[in-house]
Amino acid sequence: MLRVGYPATISADLLREFPEGVELIPVSDKMDHDVEIDVWIPDPYSTRAMRTWPKLHGVKLVLSMMAGTEWIPGTVGPHVTICNARSAHNIPTAEWTLAAILAMLKYFPLYLDIQRSGLWKRRFEASEHFAKITGDANHVYPPVLGEELTGKTVLLVGYGEIGKEIERMLEPFDVDMVRLARTVRSEPEVHAVSELDNLLPRAEVVILILPATAESRGLIGRRQLGLMQRGALLVNAARGPIVDTDALVEALNAGRIRAALDVTDPEPLPEGHPLWSCPNLLITPHVGASTPQFSPRALRTAADELRRFMKGEPLRNVVQAAT
Ligand SMILES: NC(=O)c1ccc[n+]([C@@H]2O[C@H](COP(=O)([O-])OP(=O)(O)OC[C@H]3O[C@@H](n4cnc5c(N)ncnc54)[C@H](OP(=O)(O)O)[C@@H]3O)[C@@H](O)[C@H]2O)c1
Repeated sequence: MLRVGYPATISADLLREFPEGVELIPVSDKMDHDVEIDVWIPDPYSTRAMRTWPKLHGVKLVLSMMAGTEWIPGTVGPHVTICNARSAHNIPTAEWTLAAILAMLKYFPLYLDIQRSGLWKRRFEASEHFAKITGDANHVYPPVLGEELTGKTVLLVGYGEIGKEIERMLEPFDVDMVRLARTVRSEPEVHAVSELDNLLPRAEVVILILPATAESRGLIGRRQLGLMQRGALLVNAARGPIVDTDALVEALNAGRIRAALDVTDPEPLPEGHPLWSCPNLLITPHVGASTPQFSPRALRTAADELRRFMKGEPLRNVVQAAT
């Protein structure tokens, strides 16, 4: 029997598709005893999962329910194989990205504030807001009540599973898509990350959808934010440390750019942190991939990996091979 530890916080009903020959053991940071398991599916909340790890023994394989696994190698060490749940997050994270872009370009946060004031202030606030953000103070009639995504230039930083899904969902908007990843390639054209600084000034929307690694940490720093067009929108659906938070606070407070963040550095963002009061910023608390459909999808991916592991076949989503 292969002993598989799964998060006690999820319903065992979700594990129905797991292969025969597996003993399912709920594990949690609240356990008052240690357990011997072969395979660990960590709690999706990394802080809870990290507190669980010291109680686990014998783990050879970690099957993460998440796409980002940056905390796992440092916790479990090099002698354990780690797989992520690649593709389980494509749809919700891409949908979040689209929703965030449209919300910012249609000024939904501003209109929600106006709605809460209980007044029908339709025209001038949005127009003034637009002028402040973009520097375009030409008073044209009718006034600006929102902006269009269609036709904008979008820079996609990261062109993996989720990046491709974002591109697919952006197709009806006929955007001018510029793609960037670690490695250059063609059809479609993908620029190398070394070209980031040259490409940033072209984009009206910059989407970050790449893993947090030693190389990507601080990729968007003061210089990169300074290269963005005035009023451009930075969307971080990836990981907080990819952006230099102090530099972002400065750029937002100076009214240079706007941003939508599902992730921040630090995370959770503490009460009173300067980001909370920045203008032209939408923050959601790392909920981009959290939908009711996510867990069943991630656990189907884990079940598939388990089947392969039990048959001795190559695993699909290895992010660290055991040494
Ligand atoms: N907000 C959320 O809730 C949420 C949900 C899911 C995922 N995420 C984040 O999104 C990330 C991407 O997920 P995915 O499934 O699309 O991953 P993926 O399929 O592995 O693709 C990652 C992409 O990032 C590129 N990349 C890696 N390092 C880079 C660097 N230093 N500079 C530029 N590009 C780099 C890769 O380039 P190559 O193609 O050249 O290898 C690849 O195109 C995850 O790692 C996770 O951190 C966030």
